[in-house]
Amino acid sequence: MEKINLIATTAFGLEACVKREVIRLGFENVKTYDGRVEFTGTEADIVKANLWLRFASKVLIKMGEFRATTFDDLFEGTKALPWGNWITEDGKFTVTGKSVKSTLFSVSDCQAIVKKAVVEKLKQKYHVSWFDETGPEYTIQVALLNDIATLTIDTSGGSLHKRGYRETAMVAPLKETLAAAMVDLSYWNKSRPLLDPLCGSGTIPIEAALIARNVAPGIHRRFASEEWPQIAPQIWKQARVAAYQAIDYDVMPQIYGSDIDPEAIAVAKENAEKAGVDDCITFEVRPAQEAKLIGDYGCIITNPPYGERIGELKEVEELYRSLGKLLKQNETWGAYVITSMEYFESLFGRKADAKRKIFNGRIKTDYYQFFGPKPPKMPRK
Ligand SMILES: C[S@@+](CC[C@H](N)C(=O)[O-])C[C@H]1O[C@@H](n2cnc3c(N)ncnc32)[C@H](O)[C@@H]1O
Repeated sequence: MEKINLIATTAFGLEACVKREVIRLGFENVKTYDGRVEFTGTEADIVKANLWLRFASKVLIKMGEFRATTFDDLFEGTKALPWGNWITEDGKFTVTGKSVKSTLFSVSDCQAIVKKAVVEKLKQKYHVSWFDETGPEYTIQVALLNDIATLTIDTSGGSLHKRGYRETAMVAPLKETLAAAMVDLSYWNKSRPLLDPLCGSGTIPIEAALIARNVAPGIHRRFASEEWPQIAPQIWKQARVAAYQAIDYDVMPQIYGSDIDPEAIAVAKENAEKAGVDDCITFEVRPAQEAKLIGDYGCIITNPPYGERIGELKEVEELYRSLGKLLKQNETWGAYVITSMEYFESLFGRKADAKRKIFNGRIKTDYYQFFGPKPPKMPRK
């Protein structure tokens, strides 16, 4: 069977995390670029990637890539691709686009050209002159970068951060994919306590619990490609059954989330319940200044306010000082904090052991990592 070229798109800064999980899932021919990881796979791998990729934003089929500096180039290049392999006669297809540093800069014109070229190609395949577009959805993207057009079809539908458990979110919620990556980039594991003292709607504690119990991140949601006839419903069914069987309900990590806002805590509890991990997270209303580190060798993992809103700065500076004091409560703990504030370390009172640039949406942030000591080795059972 011919391998399908796939792209896992990522937030800038998370490419290495996504690459690791792509390799861990056993996909082949893995290549990493800014904002994406490419690999090859089968129809079943489209299912696996959507269900299991925890840090990626979307899974796309890469239909082709070619140089395009004129609308003719774009039309002919698009028309040459095998759209009929995926798009059904009744398929509903929309075209999205973006253009960066390219001669063809009018995105709406590029979208129209691509749509026209795909229609022409499908007319040849299906021998019809009109498409009703009443069937499954196929979202095509034309992405131009330095005059290279990359044409893709989105297999995910809504972005993969939409796990399905967070219908309600508070102000400035963290994407679930980024929260999970923050946990992955820390030295936390299911045998160590975790505290998010500014947990908002609970995203970091919930993602940590899902990781600890090996819950597939996509298990509670649907994907655009579930409606496509090319991927047999049986493949989806088998993959979901396997994902349910892989959950380790016996794992009981010690995870704590607190926030000053009672409404946020109510939402966090509701979200944890929907995600099926409310039994292993303790949420409470508490100012971070009064937080307690329970147990040894734990990790604080948190996404505080960044002080970007007017009038917030002094308060946030004070909050960052108190986070530094919190870590001093127990020298066996480590801390992991994401923020856009450039002088965070001076407020926190310590230089980070490592720093990583990550885009939180459009905000350029640093992920400050204070590792703490390694826990002693547990005796073998
Ligand atoms: C950026 S939001 C965290 C969002 C969260 N990661 C999520 O995904 O929903 C920052 C949170 O800090 C909380 N907060 C601000 N000052 C606080 C303080 N002094 N003590 C505890 N929580 C505080 C806010 O209520 C808000 O929920």
